[in-house]
Amino acid sequence: MLILNSCTLRSWQWSDRTSLQLHANNRNVSINLRDRFPWPYTQSEADDFLHISTFEPLTLYAAIDINGEAVGGIGIEPFDDVNRYGCEIGYWLSERYWNKGIMTEVVAAYSNYIFENTEFVRLEAHVFGWNRGSGKVLEKCGFEFEGAHRKACFKDGKWCDMIIYAKVR
Ligand SMILES: CC(C)(COP(=O)(O)OP(=O)(O)OC[C@H]1O[C@@H](n2cnc3c(N)ncnc32)[C@H](O)[C@@H]1OP(=O)(O)O)[C@@H](O)C(=O)NCCC(=O)NCCS
Repeated sequence: MLILNSCTLRSWQWSDRTSLQLHANNRNVSINLRDRFPWPYTQSEADDFLHISTFEPLTLYAAIDINGEAVGGIGIEPFDDVNRYGCEIGYWLSERYWNKGIMTEVVAAYSNYIFENTEFVRLEAHVFGWNRGSGKVLEKCGFEFEGAHRKACFKDGKWCDMIIYAKVR
């Protein structure tokens, strides 16, 4: 468990199923994520996610807990083969808590936690071209802009660039 000023990062629990569905079911959240985080986000999607994440270590999946309620998530997806010392970091937060500096604190703390507790030397973030808020979070956490993969994503009926940020140890 990681206790921060604004929230706590802890493992996902089966008892999070209601709050996960409530906070994740928001188009303003899902529009910035891969299609596997859909809108509407139903109870069945929440349950499917909890089935894979509940017994995993914090270094893979963490719930963002505010006042005992899971209101967002952060985690990594390891790369393989010659890229195996790198991973992608992904995160989201309930819209109720946006623009209070929470994710800046979370991404900074979680990145350090990954570097301290795993063998990964590279954390990569993939940001849709329109998602300036997420880019700012990453920049404030020491991630560097590495480039834009033009028209790499087709999201919500539109092509968009995928902006690559990375932090290396
Ligand atoms: C992106 C997200 C994680 C940011 O979380 P947050 O807790 O609101 O972030 P913070 O408050 O720490 O920082 C946000 C920064 O972006 C800025 N920002 C927010 N929206 C912005 C916009 N449309 N244009 C420019 N800057 C913006 C804020 O002003 C703030 O910067 P500042 O501290 O310099 O003022 C949150 O909005 C979210 O969950 N979005 C949906 C999912 C998502 O985008 N996940 C990331 C996928 S790569």
